[in-house]
Amino acid sequence: MSMLEIKRYPEEVLKKKAIALDKVDENDRDLQRLIDNMIETMYAAAGVGLAAPQVGVGKRLIVIDIGDREDGGALIVLVNPEIVLAEGLVESEEGCLSVPQYIANLKRAERVVVRGLDRDGKLVEIKADGLLARALQHEIDHLDGVLILDRISAIKREFYKKRYLKSLKESQVKAES
Ligand code: NI
Repeated sequence: MSMLEIKRYPEEVLKKKAIALDKVDENDRDLQRLIDNMIETMYAAAGVGLAAPQVGVGKRLIVIDIGDREDGGALIVLVNPEIVLAEGLVESEEGCLSVPQYIANLKRAERVVVRGLDRDGKLVEIKADGLLARALQHEIDHLDGVLILDRISAIKREFYKKRYLKSLKESQVKAES
């Protein structure tokens, strides 16, 4: 397994709608390796989820683990996930590995039912609430090119962009000098 580079705002791949996989096969070595690498990258970055576009791959694939690090007990791999039911509304803090140094307060559905394929191509249905419901909605957003920055007000977004792009410039100057 190997670590993948996590793409950060404002990279283009994060804004694009990802493409559905037409086939999921446990013997597809490239796909299985990508999934393993995404899992390792998620754990290494201490994230609760990762979507393929975040590692530069425009495919509808997410990994999530809201449990204890590395024990694998709560690991979810979903290909072509779809929200088939969303109920309630709850506001909570949310961060993103692709949007460094920002925590947003976002309203999301309280409960969701998500359907997709697991890494062997079997149909799975997940009923979720709490953090898992939020993580599923967040990662599926990534597959549609939507970041937490797209779900906050325009004023807050502009504020983040200015502050973040300024800090990027400063770190580049530091690296060059
Ligand atoms: Ni994210």
